[in-house]
Amino acid sequence: MLTAPFLFIANWKAQKTIAQVHEFMQHRARLNELMHEVNAHLIICPSAEALSTVHDALTQYKNNLFLGAQGCAPALTGAFTGQVPILSLVELNCSYCIIGHSEEREYAGETDTSVAVKAALLLDQGIKPIICVGEIQEEYDTDTAKDRIAIQLAPLCESLAHKTGTCYIAYEPHWAIGTGKIPPIAYIQEMFTHIQQITNRHISKMTIKLLYGGSVSESSMRDLRLLKKNSPELTGLLIGNASLELQNLTKIVKLWYV
Ligand code: PGA
Repeated sequence: MLTAPFLFIANWKAQKTIAQVHEFMQHRARLNELMHEVNAHLIICPSAEALSTVHDALTQYKNNLFLGAQGCAPALTGAFTGQVPILSLVELNCSYCIIGHSEEREYAGETDTSVAVKAALLLDQGIKPIICVGEIQEEYDTDTAKDRIAIQLAPLCESLAHKTGTCYIAYEPHWAIGTGKIPPIAYIQEMFTHIQQITNRHISKMTIKLLYGGSVSESSMRDLRLLKKNSPELTGLLIGNASLELQNLTKIVKLWYV
């Protein structure tokens, strides 16, 4: 049986200019080959103004490299200053869209409700939502992460109650993003089980795939490989800082398969 390709999701945030994105994309053939060799997909998520740069660069590399957006408006088009119309993502053949990232929640007013609205609209347009959930440091310290995740998922479970298709849920603890810290592997597994229990109960018609994000790097690879070994439900990794440089990114991909 063919196994589904593992996903490496490069979240470039606002870290690259258009010129830098263009430069990175010169290496697309090499990246495509590497992804093909390991049976993985690389989802490249640049900031909004560089989406078309990545789209144009990927025209001949559609087997293993895909375009992802970092967010979208809660409407196909509409009066939402600063947001990307979902129909533009359709025009750009965008395959994935990250929603509910903790930075969007913190700086752009993303809420659990807007995430739920966006997820349903994206699915209707054939774009796979990558929904980020996770607790803040204080919730981790007080052992209330499960409560936070249940709250984050509640509107989503309602909006997707009658939908079919595939949705990606990334467990991304806020306190692990960009800090070099990752939770204990058993803890991540516990959160995966928690997410699965909620989604199985409320959105059982959907296929839910689980991702981990937060300080994925060369130094966290050894621990994360344990997660890979013990959690077959892990479908991919969301990578911020360590995805910016080609060398770091390729090193991570290679280490994943050691
Ligand atoms: P990081 O970011 O890998 O730099 O921690 C991950 C993310 O924010 O998606």
